[in-house]
Amino acid sequence: MAFLDKHKAIETHATLLLVLSFLVVTIGGLVQIVPLFYLENTIEKVEGVRPYSPLELAGRDIYIREGCYVCHSQMIRPMRDEVERYGHYSLAAESMYDHPFQWGSKRTGPDLARVGGRYSDAWHVDHLNNPQDVVPESVMPKYAFLGRTEIDGARVDDLMWTHSIVGVPYTSEMIDVALADFTAQADPNADTAGLVERYPGAVVSNFDGQPQLTEMDALIAYLQVLGTMVDFSTFTPDASR
Ligand code: HEC
Repeated sequence: MAFLDKHKAIETHATLLLVLSFLVVTIGGLVQIVPLFYLENTIEKVEGVRPYSPLELAGRDIYIREGCYVCHSQMIRPMRDEVERYGHYSLAAESMYDHPFQWGSKRTGPDLARVGGRYSDAWHVDHLNNPQDVVPESVMPKYAFLGRTEIDGARVDDLMWTHSIVGVPYTSEMIDVALADFTAQADPNADTAGLVERYPGAVVSNFDGQPQLTEMDALIAYLQVLGTMVDFSTFTPDASR
């Protein structure tokens, strides 16, 4: 057939094949990429998603420093087995204030995207101190030193300011009172009305059970907020977009 003859011409000339392939890939690429330039936002806004509180943000830094992401993902895929095990699949909006995002690429341990509220603070303390006390066959390392390492939150306002540069909507007021919010969140006796107004749903607790403020407090504050910002009993995906 004439059509196939022409195709033979392409298949037997390496240069022609290369040029035409390049053309096809270029057009395909443009069709996918160009519309994105005209979208104001590729992330659907979802009610409840807020920036991390100062203590949670500091805990997130510890999570990254300790390489927890090497063994843990924070990305529930929309597949039945994952949703049944971990809960509602992750929404893009849930990591919109994560810089860098913590989706991870490996699950030696379970996904942590919705671990917030699943265990008590005391469970986390026991588990971080010595995972094998709680799950005998666990291969997770011990992090007991976090409970012996005090933090004062002295640089947390700088940390928030840095995040605000990349688009996290921390206001100057939030940054001004960062240190007070930082200590208040780990102190059940503190006046936390302002904190909870700035960071709705923030859990206030003496996370590690010790009088002093430690890296363990910050890390557990972070773990306890994961996946709790969106109320999935009322959430409906916006199908119009
Ligand atoms: C070497 C891999 C590894 C590293 C690194 C690691 N974990 Fe784990 N983690 C595991 C494994 C395996 C489990 C499952 C067994 C268990 O509960 O201990 C687990 C379980 C957990 C759980 C319980 C999750 C659930 O749904 O039951 C939490 C919370 C957790 N890890 C937090 C952390 C944090 C925070 C860090 C960093 C400070 C960390 N992990 C570092 C391997 C790891």
